[in-house]
Amino acid sequence: MKKTIAVLPGDGIGPEVVGSALRVLDQLAEQFNHQFDYTFADIGGCAVDQHENPLPDQTLDVCRQSDAIILGAVGGPKWDQLAPEMRPEKGLLKLRKELQLFANLRPVTCFESLLDASPLKPERIKGVDFIIVRELTGGIYFGEPRERRGVGSDELAIDTLTYTRHEIERIVRKGFELAQVRRGKVTSVDKANVLESSRLWREVVEQVAADYPDVSYEHMLVDNAAMQLIRQPAYFDVVVTENMFGDILSDEASMLTGSLGMLPSASLSAVGPSLYEPIHGSAPDIAGTNKANPLATISSVAMLLKYEFGLEEEAGVLEEAVSAVLESGVRTADLAKEGEAQASTDEVTDEVIKQLNHIRV
Ligand code: IPM
Ligand code: MG
Repeated sequence: MKKTIAVLPGDGIGPEVVGSALRVLDQLAEQFNHQFDYTFADIGGCAVDQHENPLPDQTLDVCRQSDAIILGAVGGPKWDQLAPEMRPEKGLLKLRKELQLFANLRPVTCFESLLDASPLKPERIKGVDFIIVRELTGGIYFGEPRERRGVGSDELAIDTLTYTRHEIERIVRKGFELAQVRRGKVTSVDKANVLESSRLWREVVEQVAADYPDVSYEHMLVDNAAMQLIRQPAYFDVVVTENMFGDILSDEASMLTGSLGMLPSASLSAVGPSLYEPIHGSAPDIAGTNKANPLATISSVAMLLKYEFGLEEEAGVLEEAVSAVLESGVRTADLAKEGEAQASTDEVTDEVIKQLNHIRV
């Protein structure tokens, strides 16, 4: 197979974890006889520095012309004071919107070997295996008006939360489709006791559900969901929710796995190439120190192979390698227990490559 991939390392630890993921991908390409051609492009703070634009046109062009996109992370204190339009995060949000990356899949799987790495009791997180399906191009992230008005104590800031029936329907369908190939259970998370947009969301879920009689579903209020994720995380199969609820719940859910550094994601497009990125941020405090956990990005590559290129076997082999590395006890600082050796980004990457060699087909 011959494919082109747009690579957007971004800021902070982005370049390090993406570098790791590409080394792993190269190894897989060699083992399975594929050719992946990379085109690098800037996004976020580094793009502001180079082009005075967090999402330069040439980056968008590169993405549109590729078969898939790998992204690291954006942002950092250096750019925090910039005007809203120049912020690194704006580049990522614009990329999501422009490429219509409406469906963000965030699988949360607890590895047996990491049961002790989570702050929760092992018996509670054993068997956790669910996926958060987060709407990614609507809601309060993009609603208009978004502005500041007035002065002094009357100064006012406005964000707007809007959803169209179409936007809700396509993400909810994605949730039901995924449930069909999983354990057949959808939990739709909203705030229908308060928000009008959530009441429309519920209506749409009811309608869509009728098309999937083989899938059971329920509605759950977001505050309750935040609690249930800790109380009985193994209960969930597919969690489908709007943009900001999904943002918050997925960071919470990552701690079930032991570290924010473990969660991969896929942002599926309605029209073109999809994007694969870790859910964590740019971690400026450890950038450039070879300490970051590369596994979220490496696992995002497994999602890419599976969802974008249909390479199920390759994805499976990579997931197996990641699992074997964790079992071998080689762990970055975020996962290592007190007094335990802390492996570097490069060491963990080497270990994944070594494991891939072992499971050579
Ligand atoms: C995420 C991140 C982004 C978001 C930020 C960086 C804009 O937190 O992908 O979860 O809020 O969506
Ligand atoms: Mg987030």
